[in-house]
Amino acid sequence: MLSDRYGRVATSLRVSLTDRCNLRCTYCMPAEGLDWLAKPHLLTDDEVVRVVTVAVGLGVRDVRLTGGEPLLRRGIVGLVERLSTLTPRPALSLTSNGIGLERLAGPLAAAGLDRVNVSLDTLDPARFRAITHRDRLDDVLSGLASAAAAGLAPVKVNAVLLRGVNDDEAASLTRWALGAGYEPRFIEQMPLDAQHAWDRAQMVTAEEILGLLRAELDLEPDPAHRGSAPAERWQVYENGRLLGPVGVVGSVTRPFCGACDRIRLTADGQIRNCLFSRGEVDLRGPLRSGCDDAALAALLRGATQAKLAGHGIDEPGFLQPPRPMSAIGG
Ligand code: 5AD
Ligand code: SF4
Repeated sequence: MLSDRYGRVATSLRVSLTDRCNLRCTYCMPAEGLDWLAKPHLLTDDEVVRVVTVAVGLGVRDVRLTGGEPLLRRGIVGLVERLSTLTPRPALSLTSNGIGLERLAGPLAAAGLDRVNVSLDTLDPARFRAITHRDRLDDVLSGLASAAAAGLAPVKVNAVLLRGVNDDEAASLTRWALGAGYEPRFIEQMPLDAQHAWDRAQMVTAEEILGLLRAELDLEPDPAHRGSAPAERWQVYENGRLLGPVGVVGSVTRPFCGACDRIRLTADGQIRNCLFSRGEVDLRGPLRSGCDDAALAALLRGATQAKLAGHGIDEPGFLQPPRPMSAIGG
């Protein structure tokens, strides 16, 4: 098992397949993009499968593929197919910006992908362009439709609300998503942008998100057990009619570190025990110098053991991690 000093057990591995992205969300990276990792530094498909295999042997039951934009990784369908043959078979999910999903949702579902989360912050094309620096709203919408048609359910729609930009869309995004059969989730903006421009005062808090939703909709707490899920769930009603669930992820103001069950593998083969950790454990070097599975397992155990109690964003000495979210995996 992958356990830490606080009694938490890591059963979920998030695997970043690339740090590249075809969008440039302002809260993530600058308009000109970043210096991407060089190909030789990325784990190969064989190396990714090997790490996940060892992790599954240590009790990992959930594998989520992330980026950057994971659909930019060539061979992702083949990779999913190989991961779906592991025993015990882990649950396989994907976090994507939706671009490319129109074409890939079917093949990915056939290969064994179970679920997707798609990031979408606005339904307005001009705002979409302002937030992402690209004119791709239609691609995201068709990607979402394909994901639902392929049965990658529940299809979750992740939105980050930005003050004065799209914070008037909380209720309309919720209504739209539930009407289309997707599950909306609102995520507090975290200090993980490459530009280090995050400003607490600009963050739309979980409390505010709930207020924005309640201004137009009725919310009842979801009785389902939350477990290690980052989202607090509510059931949404309008005029007495149940529309469905909404999730609010208060990563900053309502941290869920105490129940965290996650560790992360970056595209260049580093294990991180937290989005906000300042240290990483290198697996790529050992993988390429012929280490055996027992040695890989020991590195995974050590990385998990070192996990801190919390992300410490509210502590005076908090320092944003040196790598941005796109290089860590969302
Ligand atoms: N804060 C909160 N969420 C973020 N995401 C990307 N960067 C940030 C940030 N700084 C979101 C994306 C995606 C998920 C992986 O995380 O929109 O939905
Ligand atoms: Fe790309 Fe996701 Fe970053 Fe947006 S938030 S630029 S979609 S990696």
